[in-house]
Amino acid sequence: MTRKILVTSALPYANGPLHLGHIIEHVQTDVWVRFQRMRGAECIYVCAEDTHGTPIMIKAQAEGITPEELIARVAEQHRADFKGFLIGHDHFHSTHSAENRHYTDLMFERLRKAGHITTRSVRQAYDEQAGMFLPDRYVRGGCPKCGAADQYGDSCEVCGATYSPADLVDPTSTLSGTKPVWRESEHLFFALGNFEPMLRDWVASGSLQAAVRAKLDEWFAAGLQDWDISRDAPYFGFEIPGFPGKYFYVWFDAPIGYLGSFKALCEKRGLDPDEYLRPDSACELYHFIGKDISYFHTLFWPAVLHGAGMRRPTAVFVHGFLTVDGQKMSKSRGTFITAARYLEHLPPEPLRYYFAAKLGPGVDDIDLSLDDFTARVNSDLVGKLVNIASRCAGFVARGGGTLAARLPDPALYAEFAGASERIAALYDARDYSATMREIMLLADRANQYVDAHKPWALAKDPAQAEAVLGVATQGINLFRVLMVYLAPVLPQIACKAAGFLGAPLAQWDEIATPLLGTPLAPYEPLATRLDAAVVAGLVDATVTAPAPVAADNTKKSGAKVKTDPVAKPDAISIDDFAKLDLRIAKVVAASAVEGSDKLLQLTLDLDGETRNVFSGIRSSYTPESMVGRHVVVVANLAPRKMRFGVSEGMVLCASNADGRVYLLGADEGAAAGMSVS
Ligand code: MSP
Ligand code: ZN
Repeated sequence: MTRKILVTSALPYANGPLHLGHIIEHVQTDVWVRFQRMRGAECIYVCAEDTHGTPIMIKAQAEGITPEELIARVAEQHRADFKGFLIGHDHFHSTHSAENRHYTDLMFERLRKAGHITTRSVRQAYDEQAGMFLPDRYVRGGCPKCGAADQYGDSCEVCGATYSPADLVDPTSTLSGTKPVWRESEHLFFALGNFEPMLRDWVASGSLQAAVRAKLDEWFAAGLQDWDISRDAPYFGFEIPGFPGKYFYVWFDAPIGYLGSFKALCEKRGLDPDEYLRPDSACELYHFIGKDISYFHTLFWPAVLHGAGMRRPTAVFVHGFLTVDGQKMSKSRGTFITAARYLEHLPPEPLRYYFAAKLGPGVDDIDLSLDDFTARVNSDLVGKLVNIASRCAGFVARGGGTLAARLPDPALYAEFAGASERIAALYDARDYSATMREIMLLADRANQYVDAHKPWALAKDPAQAEAVLGVATQGINLFRVLMVYLAPVLPQIACKAAGFLGAPLAQWDEIATPLLGTPLAPYEPLATRLDAAVVAGLVDATVTAPAPVAADNTKKSGAKVKTDPVAKPDAISIDDFAKLDLRIAKVVAASAVEGSDKLLQLTLDLDGETRNVFSGIRSSYTPESMVGRHVVVVANLAPRKMRFGVSEGMVLCASNADGRVYLLGADEGAAAGMSVS
């Protein structure tokens, strides 16, 4: 019976570019999907944009566009990136869609009717100026454990403590810089604990890797907590039916987005989604994800599915994190390589091959070492694989362009074809690194065969023409088997090779019979060597140059999820720049701030209005030298509460390589024209 399989990769957030970490996940999934299809399975691969939640809402606001506009722009780039890496989604949808709303409402309603939803009041940080409740990450303050300043509301990066934002010393909202107040609000909870026996049973059914199972045992031991699935307006998401002003938390409707995308595909193809989704479905369902989102996929998601009367995943496949040259990808080191940047420099298949060569079935992190990448691709793909075809093609062409009618060494061919089930089992188990190893050992054998028979030497003797064609035919057939084995990883090269061979490479069992007596098309290079200098260019060498800093930029901006402190700033549009209200102000008083070796406290006269500003210029300017000066000020910066008081603007400075900061001054005319001069 034909296997029917539904496969997903995690939905990328619609507020930023794809990077090579996203790409490795999609390559891992795509290879598996292509493999299953070659084996004759009906395998459907869906994905979508993950569009809801506070960060997307805030980012759109900051850009002065609607969330829908932001999503559309990001989605377009994501699609182009996936296409560039030959990721063959059957459908790529959006969680902000009618199909997703359908399943979200349906599943919520079923969970509620079955008694799995409870409500209770929650006390939460509220930003009165922004008019909204603050997610934990949007509150910063001193760590309650170790006292480190400027930590996130949920955990301390210095001592690793976890806590709630209410515990922070001197908390501030990253949105407005004001001190949050604490407000009560009614929230909806999913009673995860109701599903513990079911989940234990699901885990025991062998749906998870050993390391993930171990993690679940820890989570079971710690106890399964109710899960808060609602958020208060303003929130970008789906309003909860029957609960005005309450929205589904992004992580509730995100996995449901898998089903929404699948539904949209079913409508396009005239399929019945319930065939895949009903509890007793004979179809298989697999999710490929990174280890950071295991809890959502191995506890919440199967429980939500089960509670809503639907089937559970057959398995969740968890992978580790991609590092670059042994380290976490980092914007400040230039190793945060976006998909688009890679594709500007190099073709996709070398990286697909390299990722395959490194991916095992476990959750270990995977390192992209740039030197190793170059060496591996040049040795394996160019030196071994493509070399077989290129050296044999010429001899076939000279022998008339048609393959011989029989193989000189059928046993060797049988050996290659006989590896089929072993290789298939490795693919199926996602042990791609072992798969690539097996295939490359065969490629070595094929090259040894050609070396041993020296067709170039035989070709000197016209009486050996038949033998030469035989050796070349054998070589081409061994290449063909290898190309079938590699087609899931190298779909474009396989397609070109099929053109050269004049025979498809689309089905696994194509290799059961060799290709004999048929013409070859002229050979064109299937892959070219990587240039180490081009590969080195993947790392952005320009990002370590000193960036201009504003004088009182002593704090990291906390509006985004974890950013690097010295991250390269995103380019801003002219519209963003136009939002700055730059004005000339006169310094009327200045003093050193006690307890800070960086800050001066300035009293500014801004067109008759007095402002208090803290400025990090103490290393370069004395308080005395500031009084009477005219400075350039960002007048419409939201007030920020700092340790020493509220700063009501920013004095502009530029930094130099010598580490000094230089005030941006106003020329005489500007100062003379001021009302306060
Ligand atoms: N939107 C959620 C997923 C919702 S799924 C219902 C999300 N998005 S994400 O963009 O942050 O991450 C998408 C996937 O990329 C996740 O599986 C995540 O683990 C993976 N990766 C993100 N960075 C990664 C690496 N550096 N390396 C490998 N995978 C990484 O989480
Ligand atoms: Zn701490």
